[in-house]
Amino acid sequence: MVSAPFITFEGPEGAGKSTVIEGLTPDFDQYFNGQFLVTREPGGTPIAEGIRQLLQTDDSQGMDPWTEAYLFAAARRQHLTATVLPALKAGQAVISDRYLDSSLAYQGGGRQFGVDQIYQLNHYATQGLMPDLTLYLDLPVELGLERIMSQRGDKIDRLDKEDLAFHERVRDTYLTLQEQFSDRIKIIDASQPLPQVVDDVRAVLAAWRK
Ligand code: TYD
Repeated sequence: MVSAPFITFEGPEGAGKSTVIEGLTPDFDQYFNGQFLVTREPGGTPIAEGIRQLLQTDDSQGMDPWTEAYLFAAARRQHLTATVLPALKAGQAVISDRYLDSSLAYQGGGRQFGVDQIYQLNHYATQGLMPDLTLYLDLPVELGLERIMSQRGDKIDRLDKEDLAFHERVRDTYLTLQEQFSDRIKIIDASQPLPQVVDDVRAVLAAWRK
């Protein structure tokens, strides 16, 4: 039996998810009485961090896009069984920087495999486990890409380098998912200064907990 909340953060490149999650750590601490775990995908456990390396390195240029989709699903499976489920079962809230919606947006939308197909592929990896709440940090693609270029221009990974049309499809897919699953996925305007984004997420969390 899963007993604690599972919360995910999603967004296109440069949305500032990790900074926002960091800014909210004191809030999580208070909400969950110190019983929470912050993790990320792909990664969050040694085997999945290994898969992350493989997915991000420039040596993987030319990776078959279905191979990519399976590797994200494989990393997800390992993360779920080794990290997420044990924490939830122990009563810890889990806050994950990315989860299934990333595959739906990037592989389903960006790579144009279709949301339904990617959902099916991931169904075996997740066994249907969906987040209780997803905070979707939305911003225009150009702004996000500008942010990552100025903040970590020397550390741009393989997916960051996809063309603008790819990133537009990713964002459009996120927006469609948000409309479709608006009870679970809450949208936050991430084009604002980061302290304001943190405040907005805080307000959404507070409303959700009532
Ligand atoms: P990361 O450095 O964690 O980027 P970010 O800070 O934007 O989260 O790299 C994760 C990259 O992997 C990012 O480009 C999104 C991509 N991704 C997918 O394409 N599919 C997935 O299922 C996941 C989890 C991530």
